[in-house]
Amino acid sequence: MPRRVYLETFGCQMNELDSELVTGQLHALGYRFTPRPDEADVVLYNTCSVREHAEQKVWSRLGELAIRKRSDPGLVVGVLGCMAERDGVDLIRRMPVVDVLVGPAELDKLPTLLDNALRTRESLIAEAPDHAPARSARQVALQGDASRRTVTLAAAEDSLEFLDLSRAVSPIDGSARHSAYVRITRGCNKFCTYCVVPFTRGAEIHRPPDHILEECRRLADAGVREITLLGQTVNHYRFEHGAAVSVRGVTQPQKGRAFKGGHARDPLAGVSVTTFADLLARIHERVPALSRLRFVTSYPRDFGDDALDAIRDHPRICRYLHVPAQSGSDRLLKLMNRGYSAPEYLDFIDRARARLDQPEIGRPLMISGDFIVGFPTETDDDFAATVALLRRARYKNAFIFKYSPRPGTVAFDKLADDVPESVKRRRNNELLALQSDISDEISRAQVGRTLDVFVEGPSKHETKRRARRAEAREPLPPHSPPAHPRAHAGLVGLTICGRADPTTDPDHCSHGAACSTVASHRSHPHADTPHTHGPVQLVGRTDGDLIVHFQAPAGAAPESWIGRTVPVQIEAADRLSLHGTAAAG
Ligand code: 5AD
Ligand code: SF4
Repeated sequence: MPRRVYLETFGCQMNELDSELVTGQLHALGYRFTPRPDEADVVLYNTCSVREHAEQKVWSRLGELAIRKRSDPGLVVGVLGCMAERDGVDLIRRMPVVDVLVGPAELDKLPTLLDNALRTRESLIAEAPDHAPARSARQVALQGDASRRTVTLAAAEDSLEFLDLSRAVSPIDGSARHSAYVRITRGCNKFCTYCVVPFTRGAEIHRPPDHILEECRRLADAGVREITLLGQTVNHYRFEHGAAVSVRGVTQPQKGRAFKGGHARDPLAGVSVTTFADLLARIHERVPALSRLRFVTSYPRDFGDDALDAIRDHPRICRYLHVPAQSGSDRLLKLMNRGYSAPEYLDFIDRARARLDQPEIGRPLMISGDFIVGFPTETDDDFAATVALLRRARYKNAFIFKYSPRPGTVAFDKLADDVPESVKRRRNNELLALQSDISDEISRAQVGRTLDVFVEGPSKHETKRRARRAEAREPLPPHSPPAHPRAHAGLVGLTICGRADPTTDPDHCSHGAACSTVASHRSHPHADTPHTHGPVQLVGRTDGDLIVHFQAPAGAAPESWIGRTVPVQIEAADRLSLHGTAAAG
């Protein structure tokens, strides 16, 4: 009987991809996956440490498992990802229910550790059945402090490269897939003072372009039509061919760098380099089956004109940039070690719009941003500067977070968390309300345009609702809430949004299509759509990442539309999505 695994993912797209790779790896070894934790032999949490809130969820899940393990001592529990790396073996000391601990840079070791843990649990039960539930099988793979030493980079590069390269390009459930993530860089060297990522994911490593290209080709051959390139600072990608390791140790690159240049001049004269712009152009040219190429998350300072030109000159690269600003106050940006001022950030936005915003050909540039409110010492004036920047940047959506002090970071060590929770909450709500108005305006400006939409699937919520109502012979209300498009794009298990808690406060999930939460967004007022009869409702996204709900013509089989890009006439809009009708079959 194969072992059954339940895997739950918290946090960002990088974690989603890691979970997908882990799933493929374990599946190939004979493990089977279940969506029900209560029937699993192995429970794995792929965790996020960016904010305390995401960690608390995992602690409470582990508490529940500790109770279950009393009557099920053979259960193996694993904590993967950033929490494992950050807390290390202290996590097992606090929660002995945990048997396996694997940091994000060591995931290739999971199968061996899991196998050991399963055997160890059996011997613990055989040795002392009464004590077995309280004892951990203790299988640990972490980078530890050595992670930031240059000498370890090559090794990290090799073992993790193996994990990415060994990915199964088709989903384990045999379903067709049309969208996929491809990692291009790992780790981060920026050291923003509030952020744990450089500590949990380690030093920045850039994958060889040939490997990336090969992965994109294999995915395209398997039917994938949309690829999202991933990196913590994706546009900082740079591969030095012939260099022993692709990044030279730890850098604090913000100081003394030209803001507009993609990279400082290459100190390794004669070494051939693939830049982010080169990589985009190469994938675009050499993988013609892809209809969309996207990338997240960009670092404002690293955007050279070369990358913007590559986007402009290659029609299948999406006109969507996720470029966190974090604050509009120059004083706070400095305290955060972001390496740019608010005017420099806004110059970048203007530069990007001047090159890439082409609504007249149905390709408006859409930008999204991240902000942290209540960073230590933030005054009303600082916050007013953030409001002004948000107003001026005109994001299609923004992710807004209350500052969460993270042990190990510079801000945690040096700055008191002195903005009261009530002030953080007020500022958070104020920014959300302003962004909501801007999102609404941007959506409404699309009405009357015909936009190309990449079809993700039938609007599932709608489909279920119809089936239920049809069974009960009830009429549908004039409008009904859409499912979040990513809710049915996920490949493995359950993903919980690490950016906010939409389950307790749906208004805080202003994520638009970048969000990976499974929670449905709130209802929207498109009263004109005839939901009661007629053709099926499909959902997809524009190349600017706007969500579009639209009707396929009557009689069209929805499955045949998924993964295609179709022109949609936009007829109505609200802050979360657009609504229209397919312009052609
Ligand atoms: N507190 C609040 N938000 C944070 N982020 C990163 N670290 C913290 C923190 N300590 C936010 C940033 C980043 C996003 C992924 O998470 O806005 O862009
Ligand atoms: Fe964290 Fe800053 Fe790196 Fe983004 S750029 S992952 S916020 S350290």
